[in-house]
Amino acid sequence: MADDLCSFTKLQDAFISKSPKKSPLVLRMIVLMFVMVCGVYICSICIKQISNRTNTELLNIQVIDRPCPVPNIEPWEIPYVHYPKPKTFSRAECKCNPVRYFAILSMQRSGSGWFETLLNNHTNISSNGEIFSVKVRRSNISSIVETLDKIYNLDWLTSASKNECTAAVGLKWMLNQGLMQHHEEIVEYLRTRGVSAIFLFRRNLLSRMISVLANSYDRDAKLLNGTHKSHVHSPHEAEILAKYKPLINATLLMRNLKQVEDTQAKALEYFKSTRHIILYYEDVLKNRTKLVDVQEFLKVPQRDLKSRQVKIHKGALSNYVENWDDVRKALEGTRYQGFLHGEYRK
Ligand SMILES: *[C@@H]1O[C@H](CO)[C@@H](O)[C@H](O)[C@H]1NC(C)=O
Ligand SMILES: *[C@@H]1O[C@H](CO)[C@@H](O)[C@H](O)[C@H]1NC(C)=O
Ligand SMILES: *[C@@H]1O[C@H](CO)[C@@H](O)[C@H](O)[C@H]1NC(C)=O
Ligand SMILES: *[C@@H]1O[C@H](CO)[C@@H](O)[C@H](O)[C@H]1NC(C)=O
Ligand SMILES: *[C@@H]1O[C@H](CO)[C@@H](O)[C@H](O)[C@H]1NC(C)=O
Ligand SMILES: *[C@@H]1O[C@H](CO)[C@@H](O)[C@H](O)[C@H]1NC(C)=O
Ligand SMILES: *[C@@H]1O[C@H](CO)[C@@H](O)[C@H](O)[C@H]1NC(C)=O
Repeated sequence: MADDLCSFTKLQDAFISKSPKKSPLVLRMIVLMFVMVCGVYICSICIKQISNRTNTELLNIQVIDRPCPVPNIEPWEIPYVHYPKPKTFSRAECKCNPVRYFAILSMQRSGSGWFETLLNNHTNISSNGEIFSVKVRRSNISSIVETLDKIYNLDWLTSASKNECTAAVGLKWMLNQGLMQHHEEIVEYLRTRGVSAIFLFRRNLLSRMISVLANSYDRDAKLLNGTHKSHVHSPHEAEILAKYKPLINATLLMRNLKQVEDTQAKALEYFKSTRHIILYYEDVLKNRTKLVDVQEFLKVPQRDLKSRQVKIHKGALSNYVENWDDVRKALEGTRYQGFLHGEYRK
């Protein structure tokens, strides 16, 4: 265009300089006409380009999703609500339901399996199980982050997934599954991604120890027709598993209980900056308002939650230990003495 204009001015100069005397009026008219035609042409190009640009801008705006309306929440909650866009499915009519991320941090035989079935009984909670029991997923921090990203983006498809209408998504994570080892990076991940932690511990650590021993015995003995079961679904199965009474090494007992207690305390210290709630298995069993607290913590609608799991053991602890007298002697007069009077629950 610029070239055209330049050559045109040259042409005009030529006309003007070469023949100024010959019928100047006609020439001027020709030049004027030429200028008008050019002007119209340039204008039409400009208009075309402008309209093209606005068209593409409009198109771009249509391609970007319309943002979800801002939920009615307190400002502090903003980092904790998410709108994941899973690669494996569409969130459909629930795409504007905010999703919250959680992790149940616990130890083996602390009732977390049972607790998780309760959470999964909620239509809007997806807890995906003990994801990090598989070693490669926790072999280094990048594997851990990759796994967590997949879970929190709702792309981890398990039977517990409620998919499109999930309002809280999480997993069960044992302290000895890379959690304590990589605690600094994990705390940072939880902070930046807005993940909340649900600590689930057991008050009676002696009761937990019996459960650990019985469970590890069954892993080898496979009392239920040759299959090892950590959790049971019928009173009959529970009765069979409860027949086994472990022998507890009384010499090591105090040290072992202290070790577990220290690990729990250390975990609380490491993750104290993470938004969290602390629950004890015994309290959840006895006091159903604890489940109300959890649902409030996860900001899901309140539901009555049910589990089909049956407790393996019930009743006084003394019935479930082979060498109860040794255990009693080892703990009486210590700060763990209270454990002796606990009830045994799986
Ligand atoms: C206008 O857009 C169309 C399609 O996007 C393109 O083919 C055309 O060259 C554009 N015209 C101008 C003047 O940029
Ligand atoms: C919750 O548990 C009850 C009773 O077992 C069952 O009928 C219901 O389908 C469960 N809901 C979900 C979402 O799992
Ligand atoms: C982390 O572990 C995964 C799986 O074991 C492995 O493929 C990857 O190379 C490791 N990454 C680093 C940085 O070590
Ligand atoms: C819970 O799930 C139901 C469908 O099962 C859905 O209609 C509802 O919007 C969900 N609620 C939240 C808070 O996401
Ligand atoms: C074990 O197998 C027998 C016979 O097949 C059956 O009657 C019994 O119920 C099974 N027990 C359990 C705990 O599954
Ligand atoms: C208890 O453990 C200690 C240390 O491992 C061991 O020396 C002792 O023999 C054990 N006692 C019993 C009764 O198994
Ligand atoms: C049950 O738990 C709630 C809150 O978690 C607490 O306020 C209440 O005192 C507890 N009730 C009993 C009987 O412990």
